[in-house]
Amino acid sequence: MRDKAIITSALPYANGEIHLGHVASTYLPADVTTRFLKLKGVEAYYVCASDDFGTPILIQSEKEGKSTADYVAYWNKRDYEDFSAFGIDFDYFYQTSSPENIQFVQDVFMKLNSAGHIYQKEIIQFYCNNDKKFLPDRYVKGICPHCKAEDQYSDLCESCGRVPEEISDPKCSICGQTPTKEKTTHYFFKLKNFSESLSKWLDENQNLQKDVKKYVQNWIKTGLVDWDITRDISWGVPIPLEDAKDQVFYGWFDNHLAYISTAVKFLNDKGIDGKEFWNSADIYHFIGKDIVYHHYLFLPAMRLGIDEEYKLPDFIPTRGHLTLQSKKISKSRNWYIGLKEFLQYYPADYLRYYLVAINPYSQDDLNFDWDDFTTRINSELIGNLGNFVNRALGFTKKAFEGTVPEPEEYDEQDKEAENKIKNLANELGALLEQNHLDRALKKIMEFSSFFNQYFQHKEPWKKGPGTSTCVYLSVNAARSLSIALFSFLPNSSEKIWVQLGLQGNVNKNNWESLSELQIKPGHKLGDASPLFAKVEPEDIEKYKKQLGHTG
Ligand code: MF3
Ligand code: ZN
Repeated sequence: MRDKAIITSALPYANGEIHLGHVASTYLPADVTTRFLKLKGVEAYYVCASDDFGTPILIQSEKEGKSTADYVAYWNKRDYEDFSAFGIDFDYFYQTSSPENIQFVQDVFMKLNSAGHIYQKEIIQFYCNNDKKFLPDRYVKGICPHCKAEDQYSDLCESCGRVPEEISDPKCSICGQTPTKEKTTHYFFKLKNFSESLSKWLDENQNLQKDVKKYVQNWIKTGLVDWDITRDISWGVPIPLEDAKDQVFYGWFDNHLAYISTAVKFLNDKGIDGKEFWNSADIYHFIGKDIVYHHYLFLPAMRLGIDEEYKLPDFIPTRGHLTLQSKKISKSRNWYIGLKEFLQYYPADYLRYYLVAINPYSQDDLNFDWDDFTTRINSELIGNLGNFVNRALGFTKKAFEGTVPEPEEYDEQDKEAENKIKNLANELGALLEQNHLDRALKKIMEFSSFFNQYFQHKEPWKKGPGTSTCVYLSVNAARSLSIALFSFLPNSSEKIWVQLGLQGNVNKNNWESLSELQIKPGHKLGDASPLFAKVEPEDIEKYKKQLGHTG
C-alpha cells in the first residue's frame, strides 16, 4: 500500500438516472475503499466524471430539443446530487467533455500516432437508408460472431464480453431494417501490438483478480482485434488532423482518459503536481464485469502506447451485476430502482449496508430482494448493531448519569472483550486492503454481536461486581464501531460519535485508534437515541407497488 492513492469508478453515461445497479457494483465499493484509505492516513482522492460523448447521447439530446452541452450538463449535475445524497463522497466530479480532457485525448492520440500505433483504413460502415445515418456501435444489433448470442450490440457482446469484429445478421436498432454498407476512412488503434506487453503486465500484477486475469489472458491468446477509434458523428472529441475534420473519437477512446485528465486537473488546482502524484500513487479503477475488456486491455494498452507516461492501474476491482428480485435490471422494461427514489423511502445507510453485505469481491451477480432487505435491516442492522449501541449508551445514561465509570479488575470475559477491541483494526484492515468489503462488514457485525452477548452475560442492570468494567468496555466498543463503520455507514457512524459525546468528526481519527480504549472514566456521554427505525413489511409492499414491481 502506497501512501498516495487515486480511486476512480466507471464513469456514468450522461443520459439517465443513477440506479441501484450502478452504485452496487462500482460507486459504493469505491467510496467505502476511499474512506478506509483516508482513515489509514493515505492521501487518497476519489475522482469521477460524467461520460458525455457518444451516439446515444447525441440522439437523445436531439429528441429532447436540447443542445448536447446542456443535455450532459443536466445529467452531470443530477448524477452528482444523487451520488451525494447516497454518501458517495467524490473529491471531484467532472466531465469527459471538459476542455482538459479534450486536450489530453488529442495529445494522447498524437503521441500514439507518432509512436506508430495508429493507422488509417477504409472501412465499410453500416448505414441506414431509412434513418439516413451511419450506424456505429449501439445502433446495430445482431448475432455475436464469437459466442452466437442473439440480440447483441455491435460494439459489445453482453453474453461473452467480447467486442465483435463484425456482428452477424445486422439490424438497425432504431428502425429494425437491415442496414446497407457505405465506405468511410477510419483511424485504428493497433491493439494487436500490445498482446505481449499486456500479457506480461497481467502476469506480473498480483493485485488483479485471478479469475478475471484468466479469461482476459484467454482473449489475448485467441487474438486481439485492432480498435476502430473513429466515429462519423458530430458529438465527440474532434480528431486533431486535417483529413478527419468531420470525425470524432469513439467514446471509449476518450472516456477512460478522463480518469487521468480529471485527477490531474483536480490535483494541479490544489497546487499538487498531478502527473507526479499519479505516478507515485496506487491507482484503483472500480468497474462492473461488463467493461472488463475495456479496462484490462484497451485502457492499459493506450497507456503502454504512450510509454507509460501515466502508470497503469494497480487495482481493477471488478464486480458482478445487480439483479432485482432475481431478474436482470432493465430500464426500458422499467425493472430497476432509481437511487433518488429509493432514498425517499429509506436512509442511505440502510441501502449502503445491504448492498455491501450482499456484494462479494467477485464476478458473481448479486441480487436485490425486498424481503431479504427487510430481514437483514431488521435483524442485523437494527437487531444487532442498533440494539447494542442503544443498550450500552442508554444503560450508562440511566445507571451512571451518562458518565463513564472507572473499570474494576478484569475477569476472563472482560479480557476477551478488550482483546476484541484491540484486534479489530488489524483484522478489518487486512480484509479492506484486499477489497473484501462484505467480509469486513460481517466482521464488524460479529464484533457488535459479541458485545451484545457480553453485555447480556454481564447483566450490568443487576449492579453486581464487574458492572462498571462492562460499561467502560462497552462504551469503548461503541466508539470502535463508530470509526469502523465510517466507511460503510457514514451517517450512522457520525450519530454514534455524537451520542458518545465525542468531539470533532469521526474521520479525524486514524484507523488504528479504533482499537484503542480512548474513552476514559469520567467522560460524559451525549444523548442516546435509537439509530434506526424498523423496516415495515407493509411499507415495502407499498413501495413495490409504486415502483410497479409487483407480480
Ligand atoms: N460509461 C461507461 C459505461 O457505463 C463506463 C466508462 S468507464 C471509463 O459502461 F473507463 F471509460 F471511463
Ligand atoms: Zn434504421
